[in-house]
Amino acid sequence: MSQKQGGTAIHKVAPANLLAINKFGGAFLFTKSFLRKNIMQRTYIKDLKDYIGKEVIISGYVDVRRNQGKMVFFEFRDRTSKVQGVVLPNNVEALESSKEIRPEWVVKIIGVVNKRPEKNIQAGKMNGDIELEIKRIDVIGTAKELPFEKDSEINIDTYLDYLPLTLRNQKHTAVFKIQAIIAKAFRDFFTGEGFTEFQAPKLIGDDAEGGANSFDVTYFKHIAHLAQSPQLYKQIMVGVFERVFTIGNVYRAEKHSTTRHLNEYTSMDIEMGFIKDHNDIMDIENKFMIYLSETLKRECQKEFDSLGATIPNVSENTPKMTLREAQKLITKETGKDCTNEPDLEPEHERWLCNYALKQFNSEFIFITNFPTAKRPFYTYRDEVDPTYTKGFDLLFRGVEITTGAQRIHNYDDLVASMKEKKLDPEKFSYYLQAFKYGLPPHGGFGLGLERLTAKLLNIENIKEATLFPRDINRIDNLLSK
Ligand code: 4AD
Ligand code: MG
Repeated sequence: MSQKQGGTAIHKVAPANLLAINKFGGAFLFTKSFLRKNIMQRTYIKDLKDYIGKEVIISGYVDVRRNQGKMVFFEFRDRTSKVQGVVLPNNVEALESSKEIRPEWVVKIIGVVNKRPEKNIQAGKMNGDIELEIKRIDVIGTAKELPFEKDSEINIDTYLDYLPLTLRNQKHTAVFKIQAIIAKAFRDFFTGEGFTEFQAPKLIGDDAEGGANSFDVTYFKHIAHLAQSPQLYKQIMVGVFERVFTIGNVYRAEKHSTTRHLNEYTSMDIEMGFIKDHNDIMDIENKFMIYLSETLKRECQKEFDSLGATIPNVSENTPKMTLREAQKLITKETGKDCTNEPDLEPEHERWLCNYALKQFNSEFIFITNFPTAKRPFYTYRDEVDPTYTKGFDLLFRGVEITTGAQRIHNYDDLVASMKEKKLDPEKFSYYLQAFKYGLPPHGGFGLGLERLTAKLLNIENIKEATLFPRDINRIDNLLSK
């Protein structure tokens, strides 16, 4: 009997023996145990419910082991789900082989899927209504004794010290599954909008965007820098593909350790040509956020529920406000004058998000027209008042998750802007070719993947939304060790 499972045909063993035809046309018999060992294939744990009363093979990890009287209970997990298994007292062989088995051992189990008696059903739990009666256990990989009990409460330093182990915890697995779906949604959405993905270099020569935040690296006989963003390359690529996006690591030599800064993070960047102004950029980001919310609801609702987080609803018209309008409002409501500040303070970002929620029922708000003095040299200036830019931030749940802008596309204006910012155009001559040889009006944004993940999941410290966070004190191990 042949059955399709995960794209491969598998043979289920119903009768004791099975007739097979070899390639020379000869017939021979397989014994049941030969088939069990050699031909019957792995069933994923999520599918076990379809095999009630049948014998199956599962492969995975021991999550939990519990002795109960003469029986041994296990919780097994594979990439799809978890299930409870039990070795009954009469199965001497399996009892013997389960003696040593502990959490994180990798095993192959042959067992029969049984319905649990009504009184033992654990509603709401994965596979809470079935149980695997273990016939045989094969150890595929052993594990040393764990440094602490699985799923026990640990502090963030211990969590980070043992990431290869702690990432296997269901809670953290859910975070990074969601993160993978966010990156996929970004890729799918912008590909669908006619954007071409490209890989930006991470080693940068002399034209690093600005000195203070940049890491130096020894590059043969030279000093190179680690990219702080794909900014200059995505603008160059507008001249090639018109619409581009990239997802990649970027590096910021921030010397402080906060709950929202990393020294290496993942930037999701877009850049597009032939825009009217920065509103086109905000509009496409707004559209992406709607797509993301729908994707998460479709693909990750279970994970959000397990983490107690809510997927935001995104309005088609996310509110927009200029920085000065926002500051006037904050000043009026809080009594603290911030109307001359060049940027928003973290407390202002929180205040504006609360305001947007109350006033517009939106968890997102765009703040626009930041002062030219505070924005990078490439940012387009407002025609009416060039001391302000056509740049914006997107705030979500109290924090900036995006900075974007229309860019200067005229070569002479860009060179003038560099000089005003005391940058040497000679050092940027490579990048400037893109403008010298013609670029359309364009703009784009950068969206921090880890910051977005943290905010979506109400994770306080961005490091818990980063697979292998680098901060001033740590690259995997503590640097002071
Ligand atoms: O605001 P940033 O620095 O802007 C740029 O990189 C521009 N080149 C983007 C553009 O297209 N104009 O960074 C953009 C986003 C931030 O809003 C934040 O989400 C994230 O990147 N980010 C960080 N995330 C973690 N740790 C850090 N140190 C971050 N710095 C920025
Ligand atoms: Mg920013």
